[in-house]
Amino acid sequence: DDCFTSAMALTDSGFLQHVPTRYILPPSQRPMLGSSIGSDTITLPVIDLSLLHDPLLRPCVIHEIEMACKGFGFFQIINHGISSSVVKDALDAATRFFDLPVDEKMLLGSDNVHTPVRYGTSLNHSTDKVHYWRDFIKHYSHPLSKWIDLWPSNPPCYKEKVGKYAEATHVLHKQLIEAISESLGLEKNYLQEEIEEDSQVMAVNCYPACPEPEIALGMPPHSDFGSLTILLQSSQGLQIMDCNKNWVCVPYIEGALIVQLGDQIEVMSNGIYKSVVHRVTVNKDYKRLSFASLHSLPLHKKISPALELVNENKPAAYGEFSFNDFLDYISSNDITQQRFIDTLK
Ligand code: SIN
Ligand code: FE2
Repeated sequence: DDCFTSAMALTDSGFLQHVPTRYILPPSQRPMLGSSIGSDTITLPVIDLSLLHDPLLRPCVIHEIEMACKGFGFFQIINHGISSSVVKDALDAATRFFDLPVDEKMLLGSDNVHTPVRYGTSLNHSTDKVHYWRDFIKHYSHPLSKWIDLWPSNPPCYKEKVGKYAEATHVLHKQLIEAISESLGLEKNYLQEEIEEDSQVMAVNCYPACPEPEIALGMPPHSDFGSLTILLQSSQGLQIMDCNKNWVCVPYIEGALIVQLGDQIEVMSNGIYKSVVHRVTVNKDYKRLSFASLHSLPLHKKISPALELVNENKPAAYGEFSFNDFLDYISSNDITQQRFIDTLK
């Protein structure tokens, strides 16, 4: 079927001279690679997370996190506690998965956003007007024992290697949520109960080399709807929109992970922190892999601004919403045109 054909185009992209028509963006949405616009690299804050465990230094790190969240809403972390071998093994397992024949990957193919483990291409293959140069496998990842049997069984090491990375990311996420709560002047445990039953979806992305990277994108502009995204990238490609609406590249730092604030934190913080619009560019020479660990508060939990952050001068700026509301919204709307969160204002 059509989805199969799309996946074939990506798999065979090494032989293509041009991208198939359905991947060509309208001129106003093209990434303008190589021009002076769209190719600036910014310096994101790089935060040494190991210092959070030092009671004397913790307040300084919390302050750095506060500044980073008030600035771009994006930062990089080093010494985050996930070993380089766990990272490398997960990337190797993912590489081997994407190298499988298309018909094997298609056994897990689905466009239904409620499917717990699904392979796909583009963003949502059945509704996208323009297609994106991306192959992905998304799987629910927490609690791991509930979902891991549904994960790909080929390559045989996939479950173990990616499972280790997913678990380590979940631990890291809890530390980050605590630090972010503190940075807002809330209790460290402000979101404790929610975190116990939160959801973690691991989106493993592969962006093959693309013959015409100036007219296609790997992922369209969007903000993340959950609480936090912890991103591992194998090379540069991610761009974020700065306050002047210019696209800037996020540098690749070996061993670092990227932390992105999602819509739920924007709402919970009553807009003190913002979720940031980002997109993925592709390149001619090599394939790029990424693991986006998408954390969000429990599916049914309604999120609203923290009462501590609402007062006469700062009334609640958003209506409440749950992850389920978001899923319903994206099933019937084009999220590349509008931030979901702006519909709550
Ligand atoms: C990526 O950088 O490849 C993924 C970005 C995202 O999940 O938005
Ligand atoms: Fe994203």
